[in-house]
This record gives sequence, C-alpha cells and structure tokens, in this order.
Amino acid sequence: MYTPQMRESIRMVERTRGKRLEEEEYPTLQPDEKERLLRDYHPDYREDTQREVRVGPNAGDKMPHELVDCLEGRSELDYEAVSLQNPDIDTEVLVIGGGGAGTAAALTAQSEGLEVLLVTKLRLGDANTMMAQGGIQAADKPSDSPVQHYLDVIGGGGFTNEPQLVEALVRDAPYIIKWLEELGCMFSKSDDGTMLTIHGGGTSRKRMHFARDYTGAEIMRTIRDEVINRSLPTVEFCAVLELLMDEEGRCAGAVVRNLDTGEVSTIRARATVLATGGFGRLHVAGFPTTNHYGATGDGLVMAYKAGARLTFMDAVQYHPTGVAFPEQMLGQLVTEKVRGLGAQLVNSQGEQFVYPLETRDAVSSAIIRECDKGGGFVTPTDQAGVWLDSPMIDEINGDGTVRRELPAMVRQFERFDIDMTADPILVYPTLHYQNGGIEIDEHARSLQIPNLYVAGEAAGGIHGRNRLMGNSLLDILVFGRRAALHASKVVDQIDVAPLTLQHVREYDETLKEADVEGRQRSPMVLPDYVSSK
Ligand code: FUM
Repeated sequence: MYTPQMRESIRMVERTRGKRLEEEEYPTLQPDEKERLLRDYHPDYREDTQREVRVGPNAGDKMPHELVDCLEGRSELDYEAVSLQNPDIDTEVLVIGGGGAGTAAALTAQSEGLEVLLVTKLRLGDANTMMAQGGIQAADKPSDSPVQHYLDVIGGGGFTNEPQLVEALVRDAPYIIKWLEELGCMFSKSDDGTMLTIHGGGTSRKRMHFARDYTGAEIMRTIRDEVINRSLPTVEFCAVLELLMDEEGRCAGAVVRNLDTGEVSTIRARATVLATGGFGRLHVAGFPTTNHYGATGDGLVMAYKAGARLTFMDAVQYHPTGVAFPEQMLGQLVTEKVRGLGAQLVNSQGEQFVYPLETRDAVSSAIIRECDKGGGFVTPTDQAGVWLDSPMIDEINGDGTVRRELPAMVRQFERFDIDMTADPILVYPTLHYQNGGIEIDEHARSLQIPNLYVAGEAAGGIHGRNRLMGNSLLDILVFGRRAALHASKVVDQIDVAPLTLQHVREYDETLKEADVEGRQRSPMVLPDYVSSK
C-alpha cells in the first residue's frame, strides 16, 4: 500500500533505527521550551481557531468557533408545543448518555436502590468509551501511590486542574479497577496473574492498566453486560433536546425525542445525570477526530442554556498520533501505548525531533512544527505526517510484542496492506478530547444548577488544560459513580416544583436581543456531513 516515495522515506527511517535504539533517550523539554512550543504551534493558540461567546454564563470567554456556533444556536425543540402538566415518564434518577460515565452512574444508582432510567441517543455503549484503546490509570501497585498519581495529573494539566476533583479521581482509582475486575473485566495480566501496567505520557510510574489495545471496548463490554443482566431500564435512540427545570430553578429531567418516530416526550426526575460526552465531531479547527459519531457536545449546550458555567473550553486536546495514511483511516487513533512500548517519532529523514512521551499537547505541537518546517512526509493527497517507528517495539521487547499488545491496530492497518510490525506508520495530530466542560464539584454536582450532576467528558476542571492518557476511562467511572452515590443520599429530600422550559425561551430571546443570528439548531444531536459540504 505504501507508495515508492514512502518506501524511500521508510528506508531512511530504517537506516537510523539501529543507532536510535542504542542512543540515550531524546532530551525532554524544559518548561520554557515547552511553553514556547505550545504558544507557537498548538492549535489552541492560533488566532483563527477561537472567538468570544456573546451570550450566557461564559459571555466574553474564548472558545472554539464550532462550539460557539452551537452555544449561539436556537433550540432544536419546539418548546411552546411541549405540554409540561403531566410528564410522560417519572423517575427518581434520569441518566442521559450510554457511554462509560452514564452506565457507571446508572448501575451505581440501581445498586443504591434508586429507580433509574438511562436514555441514550444511539445504542448503549455507542460512545467514546468504546473506542478508547490504551488504558486506565490507577495507583494500585506498591511502587506507586494516589499522591504520586495526583502530582502527575496536576503536572499534565499545567497546574490548572481543580485540586478537589483530582483528589477524587486518584483516591477512587484503585477501587474502580477492583470494581471492574469483580464485574468480569479482563485486564492484561502476567502469567502469575499480576495486573500488567505501563507508562503513558507524563506519568512517573507504570500505572496504566490495559486490555491489550482495546481497553475501552473491554470496559464497556463489561458494564454494558451488567446493565443487560440486571435489566436496567434503558431507552436507546432517544435524544435529549433540552433539560427540564422546575419553577424553583432546579433541574428536573429532560425533554427527549425518539429518533425513530420523531415523537417528543417529557421525563420528570428528581436527579439528572448528564453524561453526554465530548465534542470531537464538531471537528474543531478543521481537524479529523478519533471521536464517536455521537460526540456533538449536546450536554454542554443544554446545560449552558439552563445556566451552567463551562470551564477550560479553550483547551482542546489533539492526540499526537492520529492516522495520516491511508486516507480511509484519517484521524483514527493510534494509541499512545505504541510510544509507551518504545516506538519513536521521526521525520521523513528518520530523525527524532521530540521525546515521544512528553505530554500530548507538547508532542502534538512538535509534530505540527516539524511538518510546518517541511520535515514531515506529504502523502499523495497532501496530508503531512511523521513516522511512528512501530517496528522498534519488537526490537526492544522481543518478537511478537506488537501483535500481542496491539492486535486491533495491527488488524486495522493490515486491511490496507500495511504491516506495522515491519514498517512504520504515518501519523499527524487528531482531535481527541475536550479538556474542559461543565463546572462540577467532587460529587459531580453542577456548581450552578441544583439536582444536576455531570460526569465524564461533559464535565470540566479535572484535567485542567491537558489530560493525561488513561485518566479519561478513569474519570468517567469515578464521577459517574460519585454522582449516583451522592444522588442516593439526597433524592428522598427532593421535591420537584412545577416543570418549566422558561430558561430555553429566555435563552432564545437573549440571542435575539444580542443580535446573534444562530447559524444552527442546537443541540446538534448528530453531525451533518452531507449538507455541510
Ligand atoms: O492513546 C490512547 O490510547 C488514548 C488514551 C486516552 O486518551 O486516555
């Protein structure tokens, strides 16, 4: 599948490989170098990628254009036509979202004896969780500690993270691994049954637990089976269009649309858990994405209209190693585990230009810089990229390691006649993660909206400006579970006042007053690749 020109460049990579294997590691960046690199090359710092949002709780804050378009969009819901007198469904806890965070919240709520309903706009498990590859962090080995994990998370986030959220994350992590194991999650282990762990970028200890290179799929399989086994009430293909509030200004459920029939229904709930995931499918700054089809940032928009503040929305995570070739796989994730196992990043001449396990923001910026300088390889369709020298892995760890540790990735490339055990693969940064989200406390409660919980990628502050690998599979479960545990303590005391959609009406009026056109309907629900062409 590689072209003759690519083959020529690969020969350069092969020529330098022996020497690179013997050399000391590439020097890590000094803090001032890293700062300069980010300022000069990270897409967040480009003038043309962001603008100020004009309305709502974050008015005046800069965010990606694509998100501002959503926040400044008119409601998708014909709210005047919705009857709020007699809700169609009543439940104690409504969970919105069928990925890892929503599923963990729903399972925990049910375990705590609550009546729970999970709604999801696609199928249960159709979410970014399913697509996560590399692993989940937890400091559960004698050489490690939650304190050490805490320091890594804060360092990775540029010391901007909310400390109490990081504390919750690292404290609960060992319990989460145990919980998953008890439910039947098959993590990779050594012959004596010890859980295997490796490094990720920015980690000071080997604490990345994994299931080969399909960790997210294995975790989601485990918890989805549990939902099915317990017959937990779940409605699929059910998109939430707006949150419902009560007349006391508290969240009280949601208005949903059945995606098959178009029918609109109201769900009244004492507690609502928003677990709608991130916004990768907004293709911020024109980047391809690793994200799931449903990652359109709906929860951010609905909560924002109801008065929730967003945080760190100007900090977008570009994963350094998205596929740059073949074009059919453009933007797909090449797990950081490939670098964790020893593969280096090199330019078209086979030269290293960055330490491969710097934090993601720095590695992505270094790749963009290398390509801007002309050091990358440019494919026949004009996509620049650098080589990820995957054959090094077997040289370092022994023959068969790539096939054993990265079976899903090997298979994906083989479909295009690329053998990553023998040849390097071409990569370029891809939109991977929304570092920011809705402001929450350590119980996953919205800071502004009573009775609303937010868990997973829709929440912000845990990771500051840059999340480390393996802390997302962790945070979805930690905060999903925490949301449900907190709800279980208070739900009995919650009385829901008469329902209202006044907040949506007022938001639309504010858009009109601010003379904001509202280029699109929001929430987006599903990306529209056809009419946006
Ligand atoms: O590279 C990866 O496997 C991605 C992991 C993550 O974002 O946590």
